[in-house]
Amino acid sequence: MLSLVHLTKEYGKTRVVDDITLDIESGTTFGFLGPNGAGKTTTIKMIVGLSHPSAGTVNINCGDPRDKSVRERIGFMPEDPYFYDHLTGSEFLSFCANLFPKKSPRKHSDILKSVGMFEYRNQPIYTYSKGMKQRLGLAQALVNDPQYLFLDEPLDGLDPIGRAEIKKVLLELKKRKKTIFLNSHILSDVEEICDEIGIINKGKLIFSGKVKEFCDGKNLESRFVDVINQDNKS
Ligand SMILES: Nc1ncnc2c1ncn2[C@@H]1O[C@H](COP(=O)(O)OP(=O)(O)O)[C@@H](O)[C@H]1O
Ligand SMILES: [Mg+2]
Repeated sequence: MLSLVHLTKEYGKTRVVDDITLDIESGTTFGFLGPNGAGKTTTIKMIVGLSHPSAGTVNINCGDPRDKSVRERIGFMPEDPYFYDHLTGSEFLSFCANLFPKKSPRKHSDILKSVGMFEYRNQPIYTYSKGMKQRLGLAQALVNDPQYLFLDEPLDGLDPIGRAEIKKVLLELKKRKKTIFLNSHILSDVEEICDEIGIINKGKLIFSGKVKEFCDGKNLESRFVDVINQDNKS
């Protein structure tokens, strides 16, 4: 179980994440949606322990994400992953794997195959396209075979083929009962992949629950636009 309890972040006097309380059951694929600047990246950074909450707590399986034992079970793909460009994909993955004291049972070749990067593994990263870098970003998040995956806009900037490939990987991970938390504004993809969603607007959680419940027969995009417009008026 992932629990956010009154999670809040302030930068100076501005509250960018405002008192979010949310429970996500293990094995759920959860889409965290909101307009640009709503607070999605700030929230995910607090969840993985990279940013310190101004108030409130994060519990992952009852542990704090800054505990080593919890970190070992987390995979994180940032919005703009940083790569050492002169390394090859394969070398970069080994570098990431070495950050974990325990060796993952998953072979690097399997991880690279699963994200469609095996054939490019010996090329330096500076030769990769945006889509290839995105897929390598996902591969590094999988290097410790984590139970919990946190992905910040994993489908952003990809062409339809790249998106389909990443979606296939995510659906495979879902089948393996991983808990997946992803930020996205590509709502058709969210509708396809996610069981549940949370909607954040101006730092506040304005909906959380099942996708079907939220859509109520309409498509996710039109419901999302209605709900955000309504919230902005109130
Ligand atoms: N380090 C920071 N200092 C000050 N303001 C920040 C910082 N990081 C993010 N913000 C502000 O917090 C708000 C939420 O940002 P972010 O979490 O990146 O939104 P999203 O990921 O939903 O687009 C934005 O208004 C942004 O400008
Ligand atoms: Mg963001």
